[in-house]
Amino acid sequence: MNQHETPLFTGLKKHRDQTPIQFHIPGHKGGKGMDEEFREFMGENALSIDLINIEPLDDLHHPQGMIKEAQDLAAEAFGADYTFFSVQGTSGAIMTMIMSVCQPGDKIIVPRNVHKSITTAIIFSGAKPVFIHPELDERFGISHGITSHAVKKACEAHPDAKGVLVINPTYFGITADLQEIVEIAHNYDIPVLVDEAHGVHIHFHERLPLSAMQAGADLAATSVHKLGGSLTQSSVLNLREGLVSHERVQSILSMLTTTSTSYILLASLDTARRHLAINGHALMEETLRLADLARQQLNEIPSIYCPGNEILTSDATVDYDPTKLIISVKKLGMSGYDVEVWLRENYHIEVELSDLYNILCIVTPGDRGSDIEKLVEALKCLADQCVSVDDVTSIPVKVPAIPVLSLSPRDAFYASTETILLKEAVGRISAEFVMVYPPGIPIFIPGEIITSDNIDYIHENIEAGLPVQGPEDDTLEKIQVIREQKAFK
Ligand SMILES: Cc1ncc(COP(=O)(O)O)c(C=O)c1O
Repeated sequence: MNQHETPLFTGLKKHRDQTPIQFHIPGHKGGKGMDEEFREFMGENALSIDLINIEPLDDLHHPQGMIKEAQDLAAEAFGADYTFFSVQGTSGAIMTMIMSVCQPGDKIIVPRNVHKSITTAIIFSGAKPVFIHPELDERFGISHGITSHAVKKACEAHPDAKGVLVINPTYFGITADLQEIVEIAHNYDIPVLVDEAHGVHIHFHERLPLSAMQAGADLAATSVHKLGGSLTQSSVLNLREGLVSHERVQSILSMLTTTSTSYILLASLDTARRHLAINGHALMEETLRLADLARQQLNEIPSIYCPGNEILTSDATVDYDPTKLIISVKKLGMSGYDVEVWLRENYHIEVELSDLYNILCIVTPGDRGSDIEKLVEALKCLADQCVSVDDVTSIPVKVPAIPVLSLSPRDAFYASTETILLKEAVGRISAEFVMVYPPGIPIFIPGEIITSDNIDYIHENIEAGLPVQGPEDDTLEKIQVIREQKAFK
């Protein structure tokens, strides 16, 4: 295979160059039938490849031509047996992974701090989650991944589980020992599914953590659009065959995918793969250089702290991605949320995320030295205006106890519900999600029995000023619970 080739993008351009007379959708027909301002803004090139699965252009639902060739090249580049393109983001790929291995009633081992697409897939599939607590990092008030030890205990207790789901790396770029987790799960013939939304680039440089495919995982849902240079919404699902069949994955992906797949998104995956396969190592070398420089300069600013290697102190933090700048702003005496707003209003800088104690800035091949200089200059300016707070009164970030799951999340989702006062909800089954961020761990998910300890935990967090989110009633006085069946007289 030749990684310089882009069968899908090249095929689309060839088709466009033949100027076929189009009696098919999309009705804008190369932009001619659309709003003029938008047409001019988008440009003729982009609109000319906004096409549909007419015969010469293959079909994502049954790829046999140029899409299949593009997917095969991607599989080689990512070290997978099969790669499937997703035009529904990593959320679509995650739902496919879970629904490929779980049937109603099946168990799946998952960390408690998962993305909503994972909970959605658990509801769709009718699976029963077996939750593992992620490790909390009190220094930064963030949650990391799950340890090999915790996975071992969960597999011993639930050898009939149909999957272990791992977030690798986390949003903050931290990884546990994925290779060891894979070995443990495979001892029980349990496939390992990886949420690799924040890790498409890690496959391409030895200083970065092992990718899911390098660690031997079975499936990985990978956001090419987040850090790999393709357009927003385009992702891949990588498969190492053995415990999961590619036919099953293809048919579930097809069930969950629009029949009007965007060829602009697909072409961007084809070309991002070429760029990563050919230039990925050099791109990451330069990105790491910029991130190292940024970290060093940020750490010279009083009251600002951007951790490096020293963040790795436990089994849940075995490796990290230095291109993620976790910037602790605790000592500025400001919250991360306020720093985010200050940077926007004073320097037109937009960060990736902020929470109580931190902002997260990501460095990618799209950055230049001047961008890093601006970030450092802005934070220096902010630090000069603040009085450094040495004695930081940190709000302790605790983990809520995991309640007993009484109904599968799907049964709870479809059950009839009623709204009652939270203080009177002990013993009832929650029909809603309630979570605190940070650390982003749910207190209740639908189907779990509400305990007085967890209600106390909610109140403690509200009093500490931490945002408790989720329920329809955002004052948190009321909660939706499963309606109790009355016995017939
Ligand atoms: C950890 C994690 N998983 C999955 C997703 C879903 O990815 P996408 O937005 O591509 O659907 C996200 C998105 O932010 C995420 O942060």
